Amino acid sequence: MQIRNATALVTGANRGIGLALVKALLNSGAKKIYAGARDVKTLEAVVALDRARVQPLHLDVTHAEHIHAATAAAPDVTVLINNAGILEFGSFVDVAADKVARQFATNFYGKLNMARAFAPVIEANGGGAIINMLTLVALASMPGLSTYNASKAAAWSMTQSLRATLASKNIQVFGVFPGAVDTDMLAGVDMPKTHPADIASAIISGVESGTEDIFPDPMSTQLYAAWKTDHKAVERQFALM
Ligand SMILES: NC(=O)c1ccc[n+]([C@@H]2O[C@H](COP(=O)([O-])OP(=O)(O)OC[C@H]3O[C@@H](n4cnc5c(N)ncnc54)[C@H](OP(=O)(O)O)[C@@H]3O)[C@@H](O)[C@H]2O)c1
Repeated sequence: MQIRNATALVTGANRGIGLALVKALLNSGAKKIYAGARDVKTLEAVVALDRARVQPLHLDVTHAEHIHAATAAAPDVTVLINNAGILEFGSFVDVAADKVARQFATNFYGKLNMARAFAPVIEANGGGAIINMLTLVALASMPGLSTYNASKAAAWSMTQSLRATLASKNIQVFGVFPGAVDTDMLAGVDMPKTHPADIASAIISGVESGTEDIFPDPMSTQLYAAWKTDHKAVERQFALM
């Protein structure tokens, strides 16, 4: 899948990795980018990157009517990047029930409902790609991020099923498993983090090279190698964090 001349839709494009993805798509020659955000006013700087190619899109991925409207507003999409996500800290026994529901609504159902809505659009446009932003902790759980891990692990399973289902429709499905990235999501967490621009660039390279599971930074690459060798050792390592 080549990005040059593709028409992409990025959810959560107003900041963090989403914003970096818009910049990387522009640099890679995308024809058009729909930049989705819950509040379109937060997209002013994103649209200003290239007013001819970046179009703002009012899109909360937890709202069915927004998703339906997006398919009408963006009928030429060939690449969907399901980037929007939220993280609530806490263990399974103490995280509030509404926080559990909110994370699944965004991190799992948001991706699922966007994929279900846009797969026919992408197919009608001759095929393309769906890229799901997952996380390294989908592979092995960190107890302090318990429900976030679970929502992303469910999204990983969904990614695998979609990949098999959509292959015959000429739609490639990618999963991205970053380690710690320097965005608002991990603000206040003191640990080595990768710059979002490097994550975005690795995602574009992975998609263009047909790498289904993309580990876009040194932390994720190293831990994936360790997980393949001994997944129980990684589980025990994460349990101590
Ligand atoms: N940062 C990390 O270390 C890391 C590691 C692995 C994976 N990831 C994943 O990478 C993706 C991007 O994260 P980030 O680091 O860029 O986080 P971020 O800086 O917190 O940005 C999250 C983005 O998602 C948007 N969003 C949240 N809920 C939404 C909804 N219901 N509908 C539409 N947009 C929504 C936010 O919009 P608002 O501005 O309206 O809140 C924001 O644009 C997420 O899926 C995250 O789980 C991040």
